[in-house]
Amino acid sequence: MDIQLISNASFLRGAIDPRLFSSFLEHMGRVVYTGVYEPGHISADKDGFRNDVLAAVRQMGVTAVRYPGGNFVSNYRWQDGVGPTALRPRKLELAWRSVETNAFGLNEFMLWVKKANALAVLTVNLGTQGIDNALSLLEYCNLDQNTQFSELRRSHGVTAPYQVKTWCLGNEMDGLWQIGHKTPQEYGRLAAETGRAMKRMDPSIELIACGSSKSDMATYPSWDLEVLEHVYGIADYLALHQYYGGQEMGTAGFLAQSLDMETYIATIRSAIQVIQKKTRSNQPMYLSLDEWGVWAKPENAIGRAFERHPWQVAPVIDEQTYTMEDSLLFASMMMAILKNADVVKIACQALLTNISACIMTEPGGDIWLQPIYYVFSLIAQHAKGRVLQTVDMRMPYYACDAFAQVPMLDHVETLREDGREAVCYVVNRSETETASLSWKLEQLHPQAIEAFTVLTASDKNMTNHENHQAIVPQDGKGARLEQDVCKAEIPPLSFAMIRVALQP
Ligand code: AHR
Repeated sequence: MDIQLISNASFLRGAIDPRLFSSFLEHMGRVVYTGVYEPGHISADKDGFRNDVLAAVRQMGVTAVRYPGGNFVSNYRWQDGVGPTALRPRKLELAWRSVETNAFGLNEFMLWVKKANALAVLTVNLGTQGIDNALSLLEYCNLDQNTQFSELRRSHGVTAPYQVKTWCLGNEMDGLWQIGHKTPQEYGRLAAETGRAMKRMDPSIELIACGSSKSDMATYPSWDLEVLEHVYGIADYLALHQYYGGQEMGTAGFLAQSLDMETYIATIRSAIQVIQKKTRSNQPMYLSLDEWGVWAKPENAIGRAFERHPWQVAPVIDEQTYTMEDSLLFASMMMAILKNADVVKIACQALLTNISACIMTEPGGDIWLQPIYYVFSLIAQHAKGRVLQTVDMRMPYYACDAFAQVPMLDHVETLREDGREAVCYVVNRSETETASLSWKLEQLHPQAIEAFTVLTASDKNMTNHENHQAIVPQDGKGARLEQDVCKAEIPPLSFAMIRVALQP
């Protein structure tokens, strides 16, 4: 299968915001407790944070972390999670029908995220709470006045304000499952008024309003259009969430779902343009894909015990084991985000540990890394600078039920700011055929192949569950430069990255 691509130094797409490589920590199942926080664990530091997990998070290249939810936030009182631990209440947590001990709260998260070398993205509760609560949290985090919540923070031993820049106005408020679910008009009004008041308190912040929770919501995209009308000029981003399952469709249909993600982003990009004109605004607005991931097959996800046995502390919920096939869709979703880097500025892979996660932890034991961890870290570590506008000169396609034309090879290319490196990321969707790739780097002056890295497996259903080293990045073979054309053989059902050194 021959594939020919041409990139040219003069044709560039969006600048890559480092926050495209963000993740998400929610009080859900074992994400926090025994995920990142496990006092008494052999690797725990003095604050109870697992150092094995912290090291893996830093290595993964996570740049920002959204917290504390997710559905959890819509019934959360942030005040329950600050101050002396012994005085914090044990609460019934309704999103996951768990018991929340509040041993880990805002200040623990802020300390943890600093140790992870990442920024914080905080979500305010617009489910059971509203403007007043968002303002008190913002004052606690960002203000340095001698007033109630700044003083409360100081009394908790945190003298300097955190200066959290990015705030989500609620979570998935279009979902009937959301505690405090709202109509687009109810939510749009509340988000606009909350946002206006928050910016009055701290004009340096930026705000993310809730768009659709997934592309198959019955209310999509009318929800987005109506919410945008209320928040345009107040919020800086519209949030989209997306998880794909559908493994039962078979590989061709399953892997093609990243095309749905591309359409989803394109549709909301247009919605933003329409509402910008309608509101006569000069301000741009961007997208935050602040929850995205693959949902593994039910038999590959243990948990949901909370439905049968509610009110446990840190129950096992949706602990998914990713196959090689899942990891390819994950890669294509991440590449869809990158292709739209001009409009998508924040993207949070969800979740960081144990649930639809890159990093799995055994309570009292070791960690292991899912194959999606390697996809994320390879892209996060090398996709810097700008996206190259690449043209498909030769591309075979296939058809499946939902899409008439699916490129056999999914790809995106990036150019580092200093002009010294171009990188091509690819997913070969073919189950049987190797892709013979010719990538022409026009006016980019390629000098040498720096790395050709491949993630693949002998069986598409292979996971890292039993053998933690089953799927790890390997050096690919036979990549070469022929003048300004990079050539490489991309194995069937693989993700690959080719890094080429350039003479700027
Ligand atoms: O699995 C994480 C959950 O998925 C989040 O709480 C929610 O926002 C989404 O529906």
